[in-house]
Amino acid sequence: MTVAPHGSPEALEALHQQIRACVACPLSRTRIQAVPGDGPVTARIMAVGEAPGENEDKQGVPFVGAAGQLLTKLLTSVGLERSDLYICNVLKCRPPGNRDPLPDEVAACAHFLDAQVELIRPDVILLLGRHALQRILPGAPGISRSHGTRIRDRGRLYVPLYHPAAALYNGSLLATLQEDMRRVRAYLDEAEAERLLAAQREAQLRGHTATAAEPAPHQQLTLF
Ligand code: URA
Repeated sequence: MTVAPHGSPEALEALHQQIRACVACPLSRTRIQAVPGDGPVTARIMAVGEAPGENEDKQGVPFVGAAGQLLTKLLTSVGLERSDLYICNVLKCRPPGNRDPLPDEVAACAHFLDAQVELIRPDVILLLGRHALQRILPGAPGISRSHGTRIRDRGRLYVPLYHPAAALYNGSLLATLQEDMRRVRAYLDEAEAERLLAAQREAQLRGHTATAAEPAPHQQLTLF
């Protein structure tokens, strides 16, 4: 497995600026500000939520409210940091009263999410909740069947998860989300083991052995 090249920080910032200036749908008239995304262009994990809420609308950063705090806790519990991820949403602007996204809004925003995926080129995309799942994998089984599973589609790896906001009010969903996050960790560890094996094979072909002390150059780019 090789590491796909990601875009430049400048290209990501330029995309964020386009999102901030977007007036393509009526949400641009009710938002305080657009919420492009948060995290490094080098992130190997991407998380996609539904839409900004009140706190995100005020701060311009995704997942900074109660759901975001839970997401950070869940990540920490499996040895990941929020800053390891690039986090964004299907919609970049808050729907009034946090109502569900409308199909026209999702369609108007779609090219931004596609561009984000193309720039980050993550190893895995966590789909937080049914709106992210429907937007990115429209043919997949619903979230109650697909949560915690690995789905490969057109060369990318996805893991649907319950949305952290749903787990805030439902203890059994929280336990499921915790269990699924442990699975995500196991998938990442497996991907890393595969990557190491591939690097060792490549090094052997080149006539020397990769060691932990002297990782292959592309391994240094990986997170897990
Ligand atoms: N819920 C989301 O889906 N996204 C956010 O950014 C915050 C809450």
